[in-house]
Amino acid sequence: GTVVLAYSGGLDTSCILVWLKEQGYDVITYLANIGQDEDFEAAQKKAESLGAKKVFIEDLRAEFVEDFIWPAVQANAVYEDRYLLGTAVARPCIARRQVEIARREGAHFVSHGATGKGNDQIRFELTCYALYPEVKIIAPWRIPEFYNRFRGRTDLMEYAQKHGIPVPVTPRAPWSMDANLMHISYESGILENPKSRAPADLYLMTKNPEDSPSVPDVLEIEFKNGVPVKVTNVKDSKVTSSPLDIFSYLNDIGGKHGVGRIDIVENRFIGMKSRGIYETPGGTILLKAHLDIETFTMDKEVRRIKQGLGIKFSELVYNGFWDSPECDFLSVFKGQVYILGRDSPTSLYNEELVSMDVQGDYDPCDASGFIRINAVRLREHHRLQGLSSTK
Ligand code: ARG
Ligand code: SIN
Repeated sequence: GTVVLAYSGGLDTSCILVWLKEQGYDVITYLANIGQDEDFEAAQKKAESLGAKKVFIEDLRAEFVEDFIWPAVQANAVYEDRYLLGTAVARPCIARRQVEIARREGAHFVSHGATGKGNDQIRFELTCYALYPEVKIIAPWRIPEFYNRFRGRTDLMEYAQKHGIPVPVTPRAPWSMDANLMHISYESGILENPKSRAPADLYLMTKNPEDSPSVPDVLEIEFKNGVPVKVTNVKDSKVTSSPLDIFSYLNDIGGKHGVGRIDIVENRFIGMKSRGIYETPGGTILLKAHLDIETFTMDKEVRRIKQGLGIKFSELVYNGFWDSPECDFLSVFKGQVYILGRDSPTSLYNEELVSMDVQGDYDPCDASGFIRINAVRLREHHRLQGLSSTK
């Protein structure tokens, strides 16, 4: 069979590519450009040299802003009071194009490199099931033959060397990153100790507030239907007006001023606590601005109802239900303290349970059933939509 693999260009998904071929699959790689810093041409060459049958590089930046970030802005989407959901909104965007390609290419399988412990596996797979109910999902990090063979990075390196996969030359940061237009997240590795402070050079999108300019920028943001349509910098009269330009510009300005850094412990859908560090410069500016204009323009009681729905929406998005009947339903509605680490004698945080490096008391295979049970309703919804649209 043919499988469409969500390929990042990195070591993990390169090994997955070769491993899938070993298992007898024809592999199509698919790399979404959602604003991460990546050499897409090099990734394309790499995938081809590793034997991908076809390579898709898709520039999704504009649709990522318009179809995924904008609804989050409208909803004032925040998970557990602090996380602006930069990874959670990116996954359905990536998966939507992935199943489009799979259908077009007649591929019955899709695959990804998310671990068996996290949220991302759920987000990818629920969207895939919702939009392509017959699809078969291959999640190598939940397949014992795969994860028993690749128990750590040294196993991946060894396999790479054996199979002509270029191994990264630059030393790797001692944490895992997920970068896109909206944010960069940092977790696992040395950050798994929730008390240890992040090194100053971790942040890539924002300047250290201590080193940022003392002179402010002043922005005028014009909103229409809950999304920005024009941003003017009062200082130099610079104007941006397309969604992608607006969001990129706000990232630059926010980054320059050290806006939007958080260090939190959050609750994953799977049930464990995890520590994450995020920088969301443009998103943080828009959240503040939109909250303000909303209070200014919206009836008191309507606002209160919308606020509750916004919290519900954020939970759905975090848990991977972007493509669900309930999310469709909700979408119809329109000075600083820095945390550096934490410690408590009654902490529920379990470093071994959440770790990317040790298995702990957790069986990744269990996640497959968990995701499939959650998808039952989404696939039925799709079936019904299919019926009504052919009437
Ligand atoms: N904890 C965040 C979330 O669940 C970030 C996940 C980061 N993902 C990654 N593959 N590094 O949305
Ligand atoms: C992963 O497990 O692949 C990253 C973390 C997450 O998805 O929550």
